[in-house]
Formats: sequence, C-alpha cells, structure tokens
Amino acid sequence: MTLSGRDFLKESDFTPGELDALLLLAADLKAAKRLGNEKQRLAGRQLAAIFEKTSTRTRVSFEVAMRDQGGHVTVLDPASSQIGHKESPADTARVLSRMFDAIEYRGAAQTVVEQLAQYADVPVYNGLTDQWHPTQMLADFLTMREHATDPLVPLRYAYLGDARSNMGNSLLVMGAMMGADVRIVAPQSLWPAADVQEIARAHALATGARIMLTDDVPQGVDGAEFVHTDVWVSMGEPAEVWAQRVDLLRPYRVDAAVMAATGDPMAKFMHCLPAYHDQQTSIGRRLAEDFGLTDGVEVSHGVFESPASVVFDQAENRMHTIKAILVATLT
Ligand code: CP
Ligand code: NVA
Repeated sequence: MTLSGRDFLKESDFTPGELDALLLLAADLKAAKRLGNEKQRLAGRQLAAIFEKTSTRTRVSFEVAMRDQGGHVTVLDPASSQIGHKESPADTARVLSRMFDAIEYRGAAQTVVEQLAQYADVPVYNGLTDQWHPTQMLADFLTMREHATDPLVPLRYAYLGDARSNMGNSLLVMGAMMGADVRIVAPQSLWPAADVQEIARAHALATGARIMLTDDVPQGVDGAEFVHTDVWVSMGEPAEVWAQRVDLLRPYRVDAAVMAATGDPMAKFMHCLPAYHDQQTSIGRRLAEDFGLTDGVEVSHGVFESPASVVFDQAENRMHTIKAILVATLT
C-alpha cells in the first residue's frame, strides 16, 4: 500500500483497507516508540499546522509526531497570520506549498480544508471541521481494537449526544466503513444529516456494518462494548444554545446506569476530550450553576474516572495515529 502524497480530509478519502493499514502502521509506530527503536522517516520534513479553532490534543499530536520522526512544525493561527481575514485558502495553500511538505488545517467549514487541498501541491490533513474529525477516528479505532475483548468480532459501539456534529458524523461513517455495529443514540433532531446517513448506509451495504439510529437509550446501548460521547455544544456554536441542548440531551448523559444498560460489565467509556465531567473548568462551573449539572454534563464524574474509562489511552493514540498518517503520506 502507498498513501504517498494523499490528502486526508474525511474518512472516505481512504478505502477501508487503507484505513486498516494506517491502524496497523500506528500500532507498529506505537510499539517502536515504547521499545525506543523508532526509525526517523521524516527527517527535515516541514509541516504547516493551521489552527483556526483551539486545540490541545490535535496540535501536540502533530507536533510530537513530526518531532519524533525528525521533522519540524510551524503552527499558524488567525491572530498571528493572514489566513482568513487577509488571504484566501487558495492563496494560502499555494504559498505554504512552496515551503512545506504538508499542511494540517483545523477550522469550521469543510469547504476551507477542501479548497486548501485543491490548491496545495502537498498533502492536506483535516484536524477537525464542523463536519468531520477523521484523525480522531483513527485514534478511536486503534483504542477500541486495543480494548476489544474478542478481536475477531466486529466492534460494537454506541455514540450518545449531539450526533449532527463532527464526532457523530465521523463515528457513524467510520463504523460503516470498518464493518462495525454502530448505534447513534440521540433525540431525532440531533441525528446526523440525511446525506451523512446515506454515505454510511452505502458503506454498510458493502461492508456488512450494522447501523442503528435511535432515540431510545436502553435499546441503543444494549450489547455495546464501547460507549462514546462528546460535548453537547461544539466549538463555534453560540453559548445561547446550551439551554436548549441541555433540555434535549439530559436523558443521554453517560452515567453508571447507561454503562450498566450495555449489559457488558467490561464495557468501556470513550470521549474524544475535552470533557465536562467536573467543576474544575470555568465552563464546567457555569453549567453546574446554570443548569444544576453538578455531577458532569455529558458524562458523570464517576464514569469518567472509573476503570471503564479509556479516554487517556484514546488521547495518547491521537499521536500514534497522526504519526501513521504523516509517515504514510510523506514517504
Ligand atoms: N479531541 C480533540 O480533537 O482534542 P483537541 O480539541 O484538544 O485537539
Ligand atoms: N465536537 C467537538 C469535538 C472537539 C474535539 C467540537 O467540535 O468542539
């Protein structure tokens, strides 16, 4: 397999076989780093990382992965560069292509990352848009494979929360591509858009994946080996939507009862992070005050801190999987 020179703008840019190969490469790179025998394959290579939205994991994953492999990263944000307000994606892409070997972009519109890719001569990676979070999917699948009790059985997972956002869309389509048993568990008004459901159904026909969209929590999580959630209000949404979102999603908060409803005592909890599970953040405190959500918002503090929670394995795997994308597309 060669993915040399390829963009990664959404999951379906790659075939299931290519995604599988990236996951295997990530596992190899993770093992090599642990053993201290990682081979540097990106010596002297340069990555431009554009962050129009804030980030901890994605940014440090690209930075550490590049450095581990002998490469370099320049981070650009709108406040300290011309991107967006003074220079178009098309012009930015052509400038960066003259100096860099690859471009990462995190922002709102999927059309921006697509324009960057159209005009760039180098690979472009989507570090999150409103529509998709493809690098997160590789980390989530590596983590689920590591924790699955039977590697021969298709992964069974449920996603509870705002399923019209990047995480809901990506978990639905990635699961369909990888032949998983995917349950989207949310009020119908927060289900993925019809076109996203269509993409997932088309993949499921080819792969044998099982897809369920339901507003019924016990039905949705029954038999799930992994329970995913995400923040109820995503970056870029106005603070005013919290009240309506809390009303809609309060019954979909992941707590001990939801984990028990899987029927699997080994079921694992997953979250792309950051998570509102306590009052150690300003927003966590405000949500507790405004809505009485004193024991976490999308997930209870107890579940977040329980042995079932694999969220920090998931966070670590961002780096190993992003490294796999860089190595596969730049060598
Ligand atoms: N999960 C994730 O994308 O985290 P960051 O927003 O910190 O990059
Ligand atoms: N849905 C979240 C994911 C953060 C990693 C957001 O877009 O804010």
